[in-house]
Amino acid sequence: MQRLIIEGEKRLSGEIKVQGAKNSALPLLSAALLVQGETVLHNCPRLSDVFAACRILGHLGCECRVSGNTVTVRADAPCGCCVPDELMREMRSSIAFLGAILGRTGECCLSFPGGCALGARPIDLHLEALRKMGVTVTEKHGMLRCVCPGGLKGAQIHLSFPSVGATENIILAAVLAKGTTVIGNAAKEPEIKDLARFLNLCGARIQGAGTDTVVIEGVDKLSPVEYTVMPDRVCVCTLMSAAAITGGEITVRGAAAEDIEAVIPVYEQMGCSVYTYSDRLFISRTRPLRAVDRVVTLPYPGFPTDAQAMTMAALSLAKGTSIMVETIFENRYRHVSELVRMGADIRVEGRTAVIKGVDRLYGARVEATDLRGGAALAVAALAAEGVTEIRGLRYIDRGYEKIEDQLSSLGASVRRVSE
Ligand code: UD1
Repeated sequence: MQRLIIEGEKRLSGEIKVQGAKNSALPLLSAALLVQGETVLHNCPRLSDVFAACRILGHLGCECRVSGNTVTVRADAPCGCCVPDELMREMRSSIAFLGAILGRTGECCLSFPGGCALGARPIDLHLEALRKMGVTVTEKHGMLRCVCPGGLKGAQIHLSFPSVGATENIILAAVLAKGTTVIGNAAKEPEIKDLARFLNLCGARIQGAGTDTVVIEGVDKLSPVEYTVMPDRVCVCTLMSAAAITGGEITVRGAAAEDIEAVIPVYEQMGCSVYTYSDRLFISRTRPLRAVDRVVTLPYPGFPTDAQAMTMAALSLAKGTSIMVETIFENRYRHVSELVRMGADIRVEGRTAVIKGVDRLYGARVEATDLRGGAALAVAALAAEGVTEIRGLRYIDRGYEKIEDQLSSLGASVRRVSE
């Protein structure tokens, strides 16, 4: 088992290039299944979830090669439509393959991605939409079998909640379907725009991605392209929280500041200066950290749920009391008890967290139980007095490419040790 050992109280400074977005790379890898020929994806982060997606593609009969940050997928003639249980369990977001497998082969069989640390994470919206597109879904023994005897057909779909995964799955199922699909109340996240941009370059006809109405006109075939995955906006937020908590000064290269417009004002209220120029985001804090009134997580363009945990870590050292409200996932405060071990004063009531700023955090043995919660522990450790030992690195490795190297390059004292 690996652990991160972080010696705190080091001010972070310097410049760093942000990694490619995990939440974009995964649907893009799934989309490659729809393309006849060789898709080349640049700027793919080297993460356990990306490697798991490659294994799923390999299992489905695609040739998948990883070289540095470039992944090449050749999907000339996929020979499978089933994702075995062990691969589904390796990566919870493997449900992203459902729409693409159906689009390419007309049938799909996979096990349920399962409950997640963040809450129940149902897939009812995905299935309801696919049924409207002509898919018959049967659920038995924890397996989901989807077939579309008459082929996928375009449909009018209104999502009761703008689910990111459901919007992506519908787009993936609709690009090669017969007729036009309209998604109402679609998710507007930048990763949806990235997926549509890629598919349109391949010959798809998708309009309105990034707005709440996405229209997809089915086409017969997609042709391969080379594409560069967008920057990871959650990693930018993580670096911002690291600068904020250590009183540091970080320039993030390759950051798309327009994708985190709801986050920047929160960090400014906390006492940080944030400037953006071209693809660079500069953040520094020279004043004391201040509490913020209320941060509410919302679907894009609201404050992202994925940035909640690390922002909370920074707020735990702010002067005053901050309120955070998590509206997206019902169980996304599992990092709180670990932050409290480090000396934070945080109380959770339902979906609300009350964070009373303390003067100091202390190094402790803590455990990551989900990806962003794990990142929050690393952020807290950067400012804590003494040494913090973080277990549960498999969660952090799902979203951060060598987090110890990223933070060390900015002056932190972080090492990974194996038992
Ligand atoms: C994606 C992101 C995740 C991010 C989340 C919200 C990926 C791989 N993951 O997850 O990092 O935190 O968006 O921005 O891109 N829901 C249902 N039924 C459904 C689908 C969703 O009730 O069929 C609920 C979920 O339980 C959750 C909410 O809708 O409470 C948001 O989920 P969704 O937007 O689908 O998130 P994911 O796509 O799973």
